[in-house]
Amino acid sequence: MKYMWEGSFKEKIDKDIIDFTKSIDIDKKLAIYDVQGSIAHVKMLFKVGLITKKEKEKILNGLKRIKKEINGNKLKILPTDEDIHTVVERRLIELIGKTGEKLHTARSRNDQIVLDEKLFLRDEIVHLIRQIIYLQNCFLKKSEEYIDTIISSYTHLKQSQPVLLSHYFLAYIEKLERDKERFLETYKRVNVFPLGVGACAGTSLPIDRKYTAKLLKFPVISKNSLDTVSDRDFLIEIVFCCVLTLIHLSSFSQDLIIWNMDEIVYVKLPDKYCTGSSLMPHKKNPDVFELIRGKTSNCIGLLTGLLTLVKGLPLSYNRDLQEDKKPLFEIIETTKSILKVLSKVVSEIDFNKDIIKEKISSFTLSTDIVEYLVKKGKPFREAHSLVGNIVNYCIENNKTFFSLTLDEFKKFSQFFENDIFEILNFESSVNAKVSNGGTSLINVKKEVEKWKKKLKKSLDLITNLEKRISI
Ligand code: ARG
Repeated sequence: MKYMWEGSFKEKIDKDIIDFTKSIDIDKKLAIYDVQGSIAHVKMLFKVGLITKKEKEKILNGLKRIKKEINGNKLKILPTDEDIHTVVERRLIELIGKTGEKLHTARSRNDQIVLDEKLFLRDEIVHLIRQIIYLQNCFLKKSEEYIDTIISSYTHLKQSQPVLLSHYFLAYIEKLERDKERFLETYKRVNVFPLGVGACAGTSLPIDRKYTAKLLKFPVISKNSLDTVSDRDFLIEIVFCCVLTLIHLSSFSQDLIIWNMDEIVYVKLPDKYCTGSSLMPHKKNPDVFELIRGKTSNCIGLLTGLLTLVKGLPLSYNRDLQEDKKPLFEIIETTKSILKVLSKVVSEIDFNKDIIKEKISSFTLSTDIVEYLVKKGKPFREAHSLVGNIVNYCIENNKTFFSLTLDEFKKFSQFFENDIFEILNFESSVNAKVSNGGTSLINVKKEVEKWKKKLKKSLDLITNLEKRISI
């Protein structure tokens, strides 16, 4: 068999070199996009007069048959096939003969692969954003379910201040919202049309790039041929968006692993989302969360690999770029599967309200006492150190803030009056946090209502985006 680029070669290509350089096992995932791009390209070739109407029709019929074969999982890959572009072209020529050889007019695989990747990513971004919104909704439902449950917040994994559990879930909705925005922002750069810049210099053939772009619903075309075939910023950005989303989910998983410890048991994981030990019959392990953490590490490694891949590349196209697809596909698949399982688990997770209540220390109210003194006129620093002394007194005398009498408080400062007991409970502490972004019930309820509307709007936005790109 002859390779399409073999014209000037004086000897047969070494079989091991063919095996080493081919990418079909990976890039076959792009098959449907390769055909989609080719269909638009052929229409453009006809429009500018590079092929006749008859040729156009013939090629389009062939491409439509290939599309059907792909959808029915029937497109055969031969051991001699190099990549997805050559598979489609080979099959086209098998189906329609010599006319098929016109398909590659004014096109190079260097610009074609960028188009395939961009078409693929447009679909994947929409899918990922849908999954993110779904997970945000799962968190929102949990916020409603535990709207007034009070839990200690943690800094440095030490009990800090009382917050609403609903406020905790809302924190993840915020993080996911930024993840969603990042995907949408990057989408703009994915949505720049690359085809028609050829191998690296453009073409002397009278092509109409804007027309092909319009057919494929790209709003703008790329400006520089050298940049276009070498640019993988858009791809790395999407990978980064995935990785940062995973980092958020990994950090949530870490909390849940801790909250599931036998010494803590804030959460009850449904049995169906746990796995057991082959040796210890009593074990129900939170492996899902651990694997989210583990898979995230792997994806960070893949992102680093991609950055290193492009770091030293001379302009313009280099074959190194072929190695971008494996990590890209793996990261996207991992992100999708994590979003899917996490949504399931979050929806069904239960929290042990009694244990959460029992474990929160009265010392989480120390800042409330400081603020009480500040309101009475004590300088903050003085109040801070004074309350520190009260904490030490409690520890030394085996007491909590709740068991102190007014006389004991007064030993530390005459500023203390009977109203100190009004602030010494977790509800008052939480509800006093009315500053913007604070955890008071009134704030949190407002946020929940805001998110209900906002998430509905996000879904509409994404449906519109889907309509804009469906070709
Ligand atoms: N398979 C290549 C890639 O994924 C595209 C083909 C470019 N080949 C070439 N010899 N210039 O980047």
